[in-house]
Amino acid sequence: MERIKKFQVSISSNDNINITHRASGNWFPTMRLRRGPKCYLLASAAVFFILMIYINDLTYIYSYLNNKVPVHRHVLRWSDHESKVDQRQSRIMITYKGRLGNHMFEYATLVGMAKRYNMTPIIPGDLDVLDVFKIPTLQGPLSLLREPYNTYTEERAAAYYKGVENIDPTRDAYLDGYYQSWRYYKDVRDDLLDRHFVLHDNLQIAAKQYIQKLRDDKNMPDAVLVAIHVRRGDFVRQRVKGFTVAPIPYYYRAMNYFRKKYSKVLFIICTNDLIWAETNLDDSPDVHYSHETDGSLDLAIMISCNHMIITSGSYSWWAGYLVRGEVIYYAGYPQPNTKIGNLTVKEDYYPPNWMGIM
Ligand SMILES: *[C@@H]1O[C@H](CO)[C@@H](O)[C@H](O)[C@H]1NC(C)=O
Repeated sequence: MERIKKFQVSISSNDNINITHRASGNWFPTMRLRRGPKCYLLASAAVFFILMIYINDLTYIYSYLNNKVPVHRHVLRWSDHESKVDQRQSRIMITYKGRLGNHMFEYATLVGMAKRYNMTPIIPGDLDVLDVFKIPTLQGPLSLLREPYNTYTEERAAAYYKGVENIDPTRDAYLDGYYQSWRYYKDVRDDLLDRHFVLHDNLQIAAKQYIQKLRDDKNMPDAVLVAIHVRRGDFVRQRVKGFTVAPIPYYYRAMNYFRKKYSKVLFIICTNDLIWAETNLDDSPDVHYSHETDGSLDLAIMISCNHMIITSGSYSWWAGYLVRGEVIYYAGYPQPNTKIGNLTVKEDYYPPNWMGIM
């Protein structure tokens, strides 16, 4: 009896037959939703989730919503590619302490050691470097290391650890530390630049456009591009630990080096303290301040320049390492006889072809 009541047939005066569905409402509740805030909320949530499934990439959505250059991470899951891996090869992984710049040191060391000992490198799937570069290394959990594996713990964060010269290639290996030295990967530099630290297409395009627009605005189409990274922020407040920041004269000396060497130079300043930089540094027409707040795009812009003036910290260091020209660094970092100073051997930290000035 109930079911019959659900449909009501009526014949109107103009001979149309209308069948009205009298929704009972107990089998499809959304039928009962009136057009109202609840309905719109549900609809937009549905659209959002469908979009997310379509894109299958939270980083993309996150960066898009935060007004950053959106990129698609390369997802190279171990489980998807396992069949192509030589299972007889030992595997190697490394800790990831710190942030983007630290992760780049650690990843580069992993690549260097994997190459040196012919091992299979594996990284976690959630590294910051994946948001910037098209990293071609398989991603998997630590449990992929087969027991018993060896752990190699560095002695000092920015001093070459000789223990890596005796890695046992017959067992899986786990590297523990910051591993901040160019010496770990000096034999694979080209590989790092050409194959590992390759910018995501969107970032590469955005950086190129940024630079082109700047050249047009300044009317300097053929100027030599020198990027300057001004690291301050947290470093300013940690001087006692040895985190020195470059003083004002350092920037003028470094800039003059390039001004003397090339007739036309265009400087691009990237910094995490724009107010200090704009207040204290050069405001000549050949100097541009990046107002990007996106660490990825700034890095992309800097490494797309010809030369680099770096200051302190690992983010600055990597902008220097990835640029293909000359690098000037602030020789006053870190302060000797401090916590950080004691953890650093400058010859291990700064590549020999970089020029240190005060
Ligand atoms: C740094 O090393 C020197 C010499 O070994 C030592 O005297 C000093 O106490 C150390 N400083 C810190 C902050 O660890």
